[in-house]
Amino acid sequence: MVGDSPAMREVFDRIRRQAPTSAPILITGESGTGKELAARAIHQHSAFREGKFVAINCASLPATLIASELFGYEKGAFTGANNRKIGLIELADKGTLFLDEIGDLPLDLQGHLLRFLQEGTITRVGGHQSISVSARIISATHVDLRRAIETGQFREDLYYRLNVLPLHMPALRDRDGDLQLLARFFVYKLAEELGREVTGFTPDAQAMIETYPWPGNIREMISAIRRAIVMGRGTLISASELALESLPAFSRARNRLVTTSELRYTPGSEQERSMLQAAISLHHNNFSAAARDLNVSRVTLYRMMKRHGLKRLSHLQPK
Ligand SMILES: Nc1ncnc2c1ncn2[C@@H]1O[C@H](COP(=O)(O)OP(=O)(O)OP(=O)(O)O)[C@@H](O)[C@H]1O
Ligand SMILES: [Mg+2]
Repeated sequence: MVGDSPAMREVFDRIRRQAPTSAPILITGESGTGKELAARAIHQHSAFREGKFVAINCASLPATLIASELFGYEKGAFTGANNRKIGLIELADKGTLFLDEIGDLPLDLQGHLLRFLQEGTITRVGGHQSISVSARIISATHVDLRRAIETGQFREDLYYRLNVLPLHMPALRDRDGDLQLLARFFVYKLAEELGREVTGFTPDAQAMIETYPWPGNIREMISAIRRAIVMGRGTLISASELALESLPAFSRARNRLVTTSELRYTPGSEQERSMLQAAISLHHNNFSAAARDLNVSRVTLYRMMKRHGLKRLSHLQPK
């Protein structure tokens, strides 16, 4: 796991402290922030590492199949059950059970899962015997489970069972200092994987990486860099090859530039801020081009950005 920002140091520290215990961990964080990677790291540093790491995506299993996938079934439990099947929970015995997107688990199965967590036993579908399973439980969600509890979609008692040790994965835009580190890491890794001679980024691409809000977090960064390596020609990836402009915020900013371009703005005003936002977005963080558009020098542009506290694109989005 790459990272050197204060936010990630905190994550590493928590993982080191949480992994050796056997208590359930609930990992929260936006999509693409590395929740599964963190779960695997915890498994590898735990007393359960000799066992399997069994990952279940509660969002992608069809509701009708979840019970038999999780708990397994006995021969003859239902039509088509020609043989006994061991469920995923049983497979995770002495290992780690990773319940991904736990917020999507249907309510009736939340009840079954709770029973397993309380008693440490499961019963296969169509079976009578209780089978004891000891597994480390790690769950993950990108939704706010507390809100789901309020709306009656998630059981509060299950929530407390799962959320004994919370681990929050920070959004990429909150990892000060990690952006270039991660980008370099993925260029190196993906260029080798794809057999291409690409060694880094042009300065405008670096500026773009710093200012883009990365709504899809690390997963988005990986796919942008992979695409740039596949499509690009040179040894350095340029801002246009990163092709991050498809984001809605950019097109909103572009429209805004058209409507605000007639306005005269005063230093520090809201209009100045909008102009700045729009110009930088329009030119995909090519600051020279943005400065030219606004009829100011590059140095002035930087000073204006500083005045408005604009550095990252997350702050550049039109209000
Ligand atoms: N700190 C990191 N260093 C290196 N690679 C990382 C890091 N965090 C995440 N990744 C990589 O980013 C990708 C997304 O991570 P992961 O699947 O763990 O995220 P997630 O939070 O589970 O996302 P989703 O909500 O989309 O399932 C993976 O390829 C993972 O290996
Ligand atoms: Mg995931």
